[in-house]
This record gives sequence, structure tokens and C-alpha cells, in this order.
Amino acid sequence: MKTNQTFTLIKPDAVGNGHIGPILNKIAEAGFTFKALKMTRLTQSAAEAFYAVHSERPFFNELVSFMASGPIVAAVLMKDNAVDDFRALIGATNPEAAAAGTIRKSFATSVGENAIHGSDSNENAAIEIAFHFPESEQF
Ligand code: RTP
Ligand code: MG
Repeated sequence: MKTNQTFTLIKPDAVGNGHIGPILNKIAEAGFTFKALKMTRLTQSAAEAFYAVHSERPFFNELVSFMASGPIVAAVLMKDNAVDDFRALIGATNPEAAAAGTIRKSFATSVGENAIHGSDSNENAAIEIAFHFPESEQF
């Protein structure tokens, strides 16, 4: 199980608000390097698959519609202790609860539209990387 890589996705709100550059800069300044990077857009069914773990939650339909509503930026990030360090960098799910200096505190607008995703475990990072970048092991 790799502990030096994680998966991130800049969500449609942050892309639409012009925050791609500042967010990528914050990620690089925090010591992550980019193994893979692309701008793309999730279909409704890809968004459903990506957040399948939340399919029984009351906000699921809203979450899927939002994630498919515009372009996203997806990336594979490298750093020692990548998953935990990246979760610390993005901050709490609800930006009102996120610590000062975190990406969500700086760029998120609400708990539903919270600017960025980060894998929550090494297992899920591997699954999400394979889902978005099936070719990345060859980079
Ligand atoms: P993510 O998976 O996007 O990195 O976010 P997370 O781990 O911090 O939070 P998670 O519990 O996995 O929730 C996934 C996403 O669902 C939306 N959400 N909306 N309206 C709500 O109460 C609510 N709760 C969660 C957010 O976009 C959250 O990031
Ligand atoms: Mg999550």
C-alpha cells in the first residue's frame, strides 16, 4: 500500500471562480509534487460512481449534480505521508469549521461547494487514482 501518493480534484465551484492557479500554487508550496494532472468534466454517472459511498445520504443527488455541473481539475500528488498531510492542507469539510490557511477556508463557499476533494485513506487514494488516471503507473 503506497503512503506517498494521494488523489485530489478541484471542484466545479473553485474552477468556475477562477481559483485553479492559486490552489495549485498552495499545493506545490506545501511540498507536494504532481505525478499526473488534467482538466476534465465528470459525467453524471462518473460523479455517482466517484461518490458511491455517499449514495444513501440525503445530499447525494445535490452532490452528484454539483460535481457534474462544470469542469474539474484532477491530480495525483506525491509526498511522504501524502493522504494525511493533504487532508490537513485542505481543511474541514465545512469551510466555516476549516482552520485558517487551509484551502477550504480560503476558497470554499459552503459545505456542499467546498472547492476541493482529497482522498481519505491510502486504500481510497489507490482506487481514485485508478479511476481517474488508469495510465498513471506508467508515468
Ligand atoms: P471529499 O470526499 O469531497 O474530499 O470531502 P470530505 O471527505 O471532507 O467529506 P465527505 O463526508 O466525504 O463528503 C463528500 C462531499 O459531500 C458534500 N457534502 N455535502 N450538504 C451536506 O451536508 C454535505 N455534506 C457533505 C461535500 O461536497 C463533501 O465534500
Ligand atoms: Mg470524502
